[in-house]
Amino acid sequence: MKGSTLLGWASMPAALALGIPPTQVVLPGKITKGLKTLTSFASKDEICPQAPKVAVPADGLHESVAFLKDEHFRARQAQRLSRAVQVPTTVGDFATDPYDKSFEPIVEFQSLLKKMFPRVHTKAKVEHINRLGLVFTLQGSDPSRKPILLMAHQDVVPIDDPSDWTHPPFSGHFDGEWIWGRGSSDCKNTLIGLMSSVEDLLSQEWHPSRTIVLAFGFDEESHGFLGAGNISTVLEDRYGRDSFEFILDEGGTGLRNIGNDTSILYASPAVGEKGSLDLVLDLAVPGGHSSVPPTHTGIGIMAEIIYELERQELFSPRLDPSHPSYGMLGCQARYSPDHVEPWLSEKLVHGDPESLAEALADSRGPAVRYTLQTSQAADLITGGVKTNALPEKISAVVNYRVALHMTADQLRERAVRIIEPIAKAHNITLHVDFAGSANPTGMFDGTGDRTLVLSPLMEPLDPAPISPTDPLTSQTWARFSGVIRSVFESHSNPLTSKSSAESETIPKVVVTGDIMTGNTDTRFYWSLTENIYRWAPSREDGSYNIHTVDERVHLDAHLEGVMILSDPLTNGQIEIENGMASKVVASMVEKDVQPRNWLLPVNL
Ligand SMILES: *[C@@H]1O[C@H](CO)[C@@H](O)[C@H](O)[C@H]1NC(C)=O
Ligand SMILES: *[C@@H]1O[C@H](CO)[C@@H](O)[C@H](O)[C@H]1NC(C)=O
Ligand SMILES: *[C@@H]1O[C@H](CO)[C@@H](O)[C@H](O)[C@H]1NC(C)=O
Ligand SMILES: [Zn+2]
Repeated sequence: MKGSTLLGWASMPAALALGIPPTQVVLPGKITKGLKTLTSFASKDEICPQAPKVAVPADGLHESVAFLKDEHFRARQAQRLSRAVQVPTTVGDFATDPYDKSFEPIVEFQSLLKKMFPRVHTKAKVEHINRLGLVFTLQGSDPSRKPILLMAHQDVVPIDDPSDWTHPPFSGHFDGEWIWGRGSSDCKNTLIGLMSSVEDLLSQEWHPSRTIVLAFGFDEESHGFLGAGNISTVLEDRYGRDSFEFILDEGGTGLRNIGNDTSILYASPAVGEKGSLDLVLDLAVPGGHSSVPPTHTGIGIMAEIIYELERQELFSPRLDPSHPSYGMLGCQARYSPDHVEPWLSEKLVHGDPESLAEALADSRGPAVRYTLQTSQAADLITGGVKTNALPEKISAVVNYRVALHMTADQLRERAVRIIEPIAKAHNITLHVDFAGSANPTGMFDGTGDRTLVLSPLMEPLDPAPISPTDPLTSQTWARFSGVIRSVFESHSNPLTSKSSAESETIPKVVVTGDIMTGNTDTRFYWSLTENIYRWAPSREDGSYNIHTVDERVHLDAHLEGVMILSDPLTNGQIEIENGMASKVVASMVEKDVQPRNWLLPVNL
């Protein structure tokens, strides 16, 4: 996206903001600087270009909207998800052995899947990777098309005090609207949605043209090495690098309105992830009796280190056009000009990446700040055993989420810069124990019994590669976002349309990439494709409380998530000639297509 084309946002005519084809809009004279005419928007330089809706092939499958309305289907889906939540597949931190007894619920969960989804289990190849990783492969009829990979995880985060919950955390209670319990929205809804889609497609004698792979790890909430870590190796060996059309996993910011404007619905799959580093500090100093202490005990020294880490070389936010949020803000400025900061368009065009980012972080709060800035949180500390004994071993862990413009290496270097003078002042030998990184030269080397070791808790992770989101050049994104538009422009918000006549509006859907501040199992799959979409298509008020008490998902939100996994998504393709937009742009004049159904209502 080029800066010059952003010039006109502040005074963009309302007609343009509402998606009237750009070629029909005449640009007011005073903002034409740098632009010939707005027809140049129908090219690579358009602000927030949207793919056309994807037309439904006439092959007799049911319409997707029926699934929101079919009572049998609704009841069965509530029951499926509820039963899945009832199996407490919790995973703690640092699981290392798939044969550990704590994984027994995963075994039970898999036998439940087998009962609930018999067709998937007979028609797909079923594989267990590293005992509990589950991979289903449905062979496509057209080997020239790349396979697609649909992901979710079987495990859930543990619960704290069950008595804090409105309904017991593993009851899978369905109150007629909401399915309650741990995992209901992170992410058994996704897993059950995927299985349900495929099960019901298969019940309609559906034959995918592409190969469809479903891959479910079992320790995502404990970093994913056992599940996705091992599955990814198998898939890369089997299919090779860059072998998948796209990957779809949990995540993203779902579907949202801005302010109270329900006429535009933003769909924001995450197309990037921040990196992460858990920096471990292990300090060892001589012990002794507390009555004859040194000026600074090991705890005092560790406190000084953390104090300085929180005060020196502070991180700042940055937002330039390479960051997916830049494109997202461009979309908001184009389609919701009355609902964003009055200065947004101007700053996107003229602001430097630092001041633009700082202004946004101030205006939108910490959740947005940390999509643009590295975070640092001292999360663990231990040390000392007794009031009359000096502490000998003190450990702390500081968690970093690496902003897109930084690397994990830079964070290690910063930590060494800040900590080295402190170590020196206290006569402590500093060791930097990162694989592949030598101790910096000239580092103070004290003696023997006073040492500080800096190491990563696990392999540091750099920010993920950004997946392409220009529908004019990426046919994969064009199809993916076109299917999203087809599905969500086909009906009004089921969560509000029952209670208020005013919200019967069918929105215009704007699809735009976003990033995640946390990590998903896709961290293991970067080599398989450049197109990695992390997106649970859940509306803003369709699920609550991931990772805490009273996690729940609205049945309608779950059903809409099932709807997106359509056959148009898995089978079709958009042709883009010469890397340019001719056909896409030509078809931007929308026909009113209904997304096709891929699920067959059957009796329970
Ligand atoms: C595969 O699982 C084993 C344990 O079963 C683990 O040690 C290893 O790190 C995993 N592989 C990857 C690539 O994460
Ligand atoms: C939407 O919010 C704006 C202010 O945020 C207010 O002026 C306007 O009346 C609201 N519109 C509706 C339909 O509630
Ligand atoms: C550093 O510690 C060693 C023993 O661990 C001691 O011999 C030396 O004098 C100390 N140096 C300073 C400057 O305190
Ligand atoms: Zn999850």
